[in-house]
Amino acid sequence: MRAAMFSEHGGVENISIGDFPDPVCGADDAVIKVNAVSLNGFDPMILGGTTGLKTPMPMVPGGDYAGEIVELGANVGDGWALGDRVCPHPFVLGEGMTGETRLGAAAEFARIPASQLIRTPDGVSDDQAAALPIAYGTAYRMMLTRGQVKAGETVLILGATGGVGTGCLQLAKSAGATVIVTGSADWKLDRLRDLGADHVIDTSSEDIVAACHAIAGKPRMGFAGGGGGVDVIINYIGGDTWAQSLRCLRPDGRMLTCGATAGYAPPTDIRYIWTYEQNIIGSNGWTGEEQQEVLEMVGRDELTPVIHAVRPLDQIAPSIQELIDRAIVGKTIIRPNE
Ligand SMILES: NC(=O)c1ccc[n+]([C@@H]2O[C@H](COP(=O)([O-])OP(=O)(O)OC[C@H]3O[C@@H](n4cnc5c(N)ncnc54)[C@H](OP(=O)(O)O)[C@@H]3O)[C@@H](O)[C@H]2O)c1
Repeated sequence: MRAAMFSEHGGVENISIGDFPDPVCGADDAVIKVNAVSLNGFDPMILGGTTGLKTPMPMVPGGDYAGEIVELGANVGDGWALGDRVCPHPFVLGEGMTGETRLGAAAEFARIPASQLIRTPDGVSDDQAAALPIAYGTAYRMMLTRGQVKAGETVLILGATGGVGTGCLQLAKSAGATVIVTGSADWKLDRLRDLGADHVIDTSSEDIVAACHAIAGKPRMGFAGGGGGVDVIINYIGGDTWAQSLRCLRPDGRMLTCGATAGYAPPTDIRYIWTYEQNIIGSNGWTGEEQQEVLEMVGRDELTPVIHAVRPLDQIAPSIQELIDRAIVGKTIIRPNE
């Protein structure tokens, strides 16, 4: 089959398009014809070898995808049939994440245990479905299941221009929250305003703490909230932004994290955590039910995934470079069968 692949960690020059062995369908597996695969923040990290995860080589990139079933293993029942439209949950117990520790889906076909199959609802395109699992599944769990964001709350989302961030913005707005976002360029912040952001902070020219205090007030000490500060912070950036964020959170506020794009062992300032009785909440991945719910939200027109571009397979290397250059808002979709 035709696939994108790399055999050594490094830059996008290591990616080539060529022949790759067809997937072998085990008794409990399905093989999917991949109509759309989306890129994520982890694709450049896996290519670069910066995560500490063990990647099989040669490696096919691409974590989440949608398409149709073209082969089913002998043990697969449960009403699945050839031709069914599916958007699999990409995390496989014992094998890890598709595109990280198991072969990705930037290829004509991909193998997945049938236990991971999730039906793509009518009215949801393959491009839309492929945009959802990793970015919107993670955003849904972090913002709603773990974060319990409610109408009337103020939420600060750092690095809101990425896939998870745009998903968090859309879900926080639909929950009725006031949303402050950060981004590193004017054109990206304009896009976030169009998506409903109430306030924007330009990290290329503004100090996050001063700008957030000007919008939401400076947190003041006091049991059950002394006033000032934001109710919720979404911080998967880490690095220097971690300690800065602690200075923006109201007493008893919640700071959620699902990642650390700029560094996972950042300097912190524990004084803020005790003084303001802050709650630091982790969020990891998402369940099949949460993925089904975001797919159905799209089917009900309650959510439209933010798609930056739709491109053929031979454009995958420049598309990953765009992620490295922080030159996108939302998700890039690659169509391996075009
Ligand atoms: N635990 C989980 O289950 C899970 C699932 C999905 C994702 N994640 C994690 O969640 C995070 C977000 O993922 P993502 O795919 O949406 O996007 P991402 O590529 O990590 O980028 C998100 C945004 O962060 C900003 N950014 C990029 N590099 C940066 C840097 N070095 N320093 C500061 N800001 C930077 C960019 O916005 P600006 O340039 O506009 O600032 C970018 O749009 C990642 O850390 C990812 O690993 C975790």
